[in-house]
Amino acid sequence: MNTMKTTDTAVSPTHMKVDALLAKMSLEEKIGQLAQISGAEFMPGPPAEETVRKMGAGSMLWLNNTQRFNELQKVAIEESPSGIPILFALDVIHGYRTIFPVPLALASSWDPNVAEQAQAIAAKEARAAGIHWTFGPMIDIARDARWGRIVEGAGEDPYLGSAMAAAQVRGFQGDDLADPEHVLACAKHFAGYGAADGGRDYDPVFLSEAQLRNVYLPPFQAAVDAGVATFMSAYMDLNNVPATSNRWLLRDVLREEWGFDGFIVSDAFGVGNLVIQGHARDGQEAALRALKAGLNMDMASSTYLGNLANLVQDGSLTVDEIDEMVRPILTLKFQMGLFENPYVDETLLDQVVARPEHRQAARLAAQRSMVLLRNEGNLLPLAKTLTNVAVIGPLADSMQATEGSWMVFGHQPAAVTVLQGVRAKLADGAVSYAPGPDINRDFPHPFGEFNLSERKPLQSPEDAEAAFHMAVATAQAADLVIMVMGENADMAGEFASRGSLNLPGRQEELLKAVHAMGKPVVLVLLNGRPLSISWAAANIPAILEAWEPGSEGGNAVADILFGDANPGGKLPVCFPRHGSHAPLYYARTLTHQPEHSPMYRSRYWDSPTTPLYPFGFGLSYTTFAIPDLQL
Ligand code: NOJ
Repeated sequence: MNTMKTTDTAVSPTHMKVDALLAKMSLEEKIGQLAQISGAEFMPGPPAEETVRKMGAGSMLWLNNTQRFNELQKVAIEESPSGIPILFALDVIHGYRTIFPVPLALASSWDPNVAEQAQAIAAKEARAAGIHWTFGPMIDIARDARWGRIVEGAGEDPYLGSAMAAAQVRGFQGDDLADPEHVLACAKHFAGYGAADGGRDYDPVFLSEAQLRNVYLPPFQAAVDAGVATFMSAYMDLNNVPATSNRWLLRDVLREEWGFDGFIVSDAFGVGNLVIQGHARDGQEAALRALKAGLNMDMASSTYLGNLANLVQDGSLTVDEIDEMVRPILTLKFQMGLFENPYVDETLLDQVVARPEHRQAARLAAQRSMVLLRNEGNLLPLAKTLTNVAVIGPLADSMQATEGSWMVFGHQPAAVTVLQGVRAKLADGAVSYAPGPDINRDFPHPFGEFNLSERKPLQSPEDAEAAFHMAVATAQAADLVIMVMGENADMAGEFASRGSLNLPGRQEELLKAVHAMGKPVVLVLLNGRPLSISWAAANIPAILEAWEPGSEGGNAVADILFGDANPGGKLPVCFPRHGSHAPLYYARTLTHQPEHSPMYRSRYWDSPTTPLYPFGFGLSYTTFAIPDLQL
C-alpha cells in the first residue's frame, strides 16, 4: 500500500492542476519536463540556462550551489514559457554536510531507526541547501563483496534490505511530501544491479524470476509501500534487456503489479547508452524504446530532448504517451509545493548544518554501526590510563577514509579521524602516530578530480620503505598498538570493484611486523566492503570493523575502544576467506551433500568455503548467561 499519496485520486485537486497545466504546455515544454539536465561545467552541450529558458527542465543534477539554484529557478519561473519550477537533484547518500556512516554500516546496526534518523538529517541539510530530490536509497541486494557498490546498500539479505529501504525512504521524505525539511527519495537501481557477473561493475546480470522475486525485488517493493516518490533504472542488462528500457520491470512489475505512481528516471546517460548496449540503433530508437518501456525522465543524455519531437511527428509516439510520462513529474512538483515555494532561503544552510544534534546523531549512528569481530582475552575495552599508545596505519588520520565513499559533489571532508578520537580519550602526549606506506588503487578512480581521493602525489618506493620503517619503530616504542587499516574511500563505490579482498598495499606486511613484537595489538578496519582478513582473524587479538563511519567516525571508534560505548553491530554480509569465494551468502538452498562433511570436501579442495565471519556475526562487551535450559 502506498501510504503517502492516497488522497490524490484521478479527480483530486492536484490532478486537476496537472491537467490544466498540461493543456497549455507545448510539446517542446513537455519534452523539457522529461529531461534531467546537467548543471556541471564539465558537461558538453548548451548551457543549462539556455535550455531552461527555452523549454523549462524537469530536473537538474550535478550542481551543488544554493545561490545558483535560485538563479536558475528564477529563469525557469520567470522566463520559461509556462514557468514550471525545476527539481534540483543530487546524490545525498549518507549525509550532506554532516556525514553519517555509509549505508552498509547503517545496516550493521540492524536498527531501521538509525538509518531513518540519519537520512532525515541528511534531508534537512540538503533541503536547506536547495536540493529537492536525492538519488537514494540505493537498495540493491549485494552478495558479491568484489562489487564496489556493496558499500551503498544494506548487504545480502532481502528482509534486512527491505527494512532499511523503507526506513531510508521515511527518513528522506518524512510523512508529507510538502514538508520543507525533507527531499524526494529515489529507489535505485531497478533492478538486479548487485548481481553483476563476477562482481564487475556494469556487467550483465542473469537472474531467474524466482531469484528476482525472492531476493532482489523485495527491497524495491518495500520502498514503494513506504511511499517512495521516484525510481531510478539500473545501467546493466537484466537477462539481456537493458534495465533502462525493460518494460517488464518498469511497467509490468513496478507500475501494474505494485501500483507505483511516481516517476522513473534513468541512470546517468542510460538512455543514450542503449545504443552502446546494442539495444537501439541510434538515439531516436533509444528514446522510443525507453519511453515505450515506461521511463519518464532521461538523466543527462539529452536523448529525449533530441528525439522525442521527431518521434511524435513521424507518428511513432502520440502526445498522449508523452503526457502520460510528464504527468507524475508535474504531480510531484505540485505535491511538494514547489509552485508556491520554488526558491530556497540562502541563509538557512549555515544555521541548519551547525546544529550540534546533527554531529551527535552521526556519532551515535557510527557507534551503533561498528562490528566487533574479535576480542581475545577481553583486550577491549582499553583503559583510559594508558600512557604510551601508538596509532599506526595509512587510514589512521585520513578524513577521506573516515567519511567514506560517495561524498556529495564538492564536499570537503571534515571528519574526526581515529587518531584524533583516540588522542581525545588519553592524556596529552600519550599517543604517537605513524601512517606507514600509502595505499593506492592500481588504476586511478575516474572521479579523482572531484575530490574522491585525497590526491596525494604517488609515494616513491624509497619513501614507502622509509614510512614502513618509521611505523615499525613507532610501534616498537609503544606499550600498545592500534592499527587503522582497510581501504581508501575511492576503493569502494562506483568504479571501485576489485578482484581480491585482501588488505591493499603493504598493510598486512606491516600488521605482521607489528604483531611479531609481541605487544597487544588492536586492528580497526575502515572499509566499504567485506575484506578477507584470515591472517588477522587468527592472530590479532582485537578487531573492530568500523566501516566508513562518517564525520564523527574517529570519536565513535574511540568511544568503543575505550568502553564509552558497547559495540552492538552485526554483519549484514558474509566475510569470505578469499575474494575468489564471492559471491558468498547465508541464504542458500541445501544441495545434496552437507557442506561441512569431513569426508566429502566437495566445495574446494584447497580451502574451507565457510565464511570467515558469517552474516549476523558481531560480538559485544556484554556476556550473557542462560542457565538451566531445557528443550
Ligand atoms: C550514476 C550512478 O550509478 C547513480 O547511482 C547516481 O545516482 C547517478 N550516477 C547520478 O550521479
